[in-house]
Amino acid sequence: MAFTLQPAVKDDFVNREDILKEMLSTLEDESLRMGFALVGPRRIGKTSILKEVIRKLEKKKSIVPVYFSLWDLVENTLPELCTRITLSIIESFKPHLSLKLKMKQLLRVPTLKFFEVLRSLDIKISLLDEIELALKMGKSREIDHNTLVEKVFSFGEEMAKENGVRLILVLDEFPSIMNIKDKTKLGEGIIRKIRTIYESLENTILCISGSIRKTMEITALSPSSAFYRQFLIKNIEPFNLEATKEVLRNNLSIKISAEAINKIYELTGGIPFYLQFLGRELGRSNFKSIDPPKIEKIFDEFLLQEADILFSEQIKSFSDKEKMILSRMAWYGLKTPSEIQKSSVEASNVISRYMEYFLVKGVLEREKKGIYQFIDPVFKEWVKRRFMPTDL
Ligand SMILES: Nc1ncnc2c1ncn2[C@@H]1O[C@H](COP(=O)(O)OP(=O)(O)OP(=O)(O)O)[C@@H](O)[C@H]1O
Ligand SMILES: [Mg+2]
Repeated sequence: MAFTLQPAVKDDFVNREDILKEMLSTLEDESLRMGFALVGPRRIGKTSILKEVIRKLEKKKSIVPVYFSLWDLVENTLPELCTRITLSIIESFKPHLSLKLKMKQLLRVPTLKFFEVLRSLDIKISLLDEIELALKMGKSREIDHNTLVEKVFSFGEEMAKENGVRLILVLDEFPSIMNIKDKTKLGEGIIRKIRTIYESLENTILCISGSIRKTMEITALSPSSAFYRQFLIKNIEPFNLEATKEVLRNNLSIKISAEAINKIYELTGGIPFYLQFLGRELGRSNFKSIDPPKIEKIFDEFLLQEADILFSEQIKSFSDKEKMILSRMAWYGLKTPSEIQKSSVEASNVISRYMEYFLVKGVLEREKKGIYQFIDPVFKEWVKRRFMPTDL
């Protein structure tokens, strides 16, 4: 085994037993019609959980899981979304159909060609023509948006019904659906549409994930959102010390002391991505053994090099004032608008407004009313080294 920066599945996947068990038993239970919403910050392991659940569900005859990440969209248009989800549905049904029809070669048919193959096999999917037409028209933007969305979901439902299976549709990074645009952003309208269609489906279960609590609340979790009470909500937390140990010991071939593991845990806050990253660098080094000073050295190098790339998108979206507030929070451990106000010239109601932006951007979380903290300890450390409060 080796450290990986890709979503971890199979042998690379550690811990998270409870959530795996709960998701599998719920999604497999035909008497339940409940999906999951995973909420957790960037790099915490949401996609890994979803992919591991899918890998296990794929082994069940009565279930076809379909995965699609909203981050894979390029144009962010509705026709693109609908085409991509449709292709993902077809792709996921391939193994099932090839087994059912005893035609192994079907697995090798490119997904786009699959429409034709399905038709030539005379599989009764009455929506096939319609959806193909809809997608073609979707591309030329002549079709009504609502109709297109409806057809995609009905297509999945019909495929499931025809094949006597349950379709688990996993939409990773679901809140990005708010960015789908026509001439203007379609926003909540599309979410309400999906919710209405979803209500009428019997064989389709939706699971979603999101990296920013605030946008997940707006799109799916709060009482005013269209999907309120439609999901079992799971907060994905960082790894504890035990799981941290497991990732490191599983993948390192050199000895690592308990103090070194504690140091890694302290620096990374147990966020799996950073564990994998530091582990990989340690594995590549020529160290004979690993102690805390060596960890600090590798961590410093990470902050100087890769972290700049990792956080550059995020930092680009901040104004100078926002950078100033964040750097002061990081440097002086400030947590409330009034503490920040004392160390700057802004009025505290202005600072409070900035705190709201930071929640929406997924940088800070609200510890308690009026008290804010960084979600990601590595990002906090990077901000501290990158921006001197006196520079701003
Ligand atoms: N259960 C796990 N066991 C081992 N490594 C894990 C686990 N979960 C996540 N990781 C590692 O952490 C990193 C991030 O994982 P993943 O992509 O699943 O997180 P995410 O929350 O979906 O992140 P993003 O915000 O980038 O979408 C990857 O390097 C992955 O290998
Ligand atoms: Mg992910």
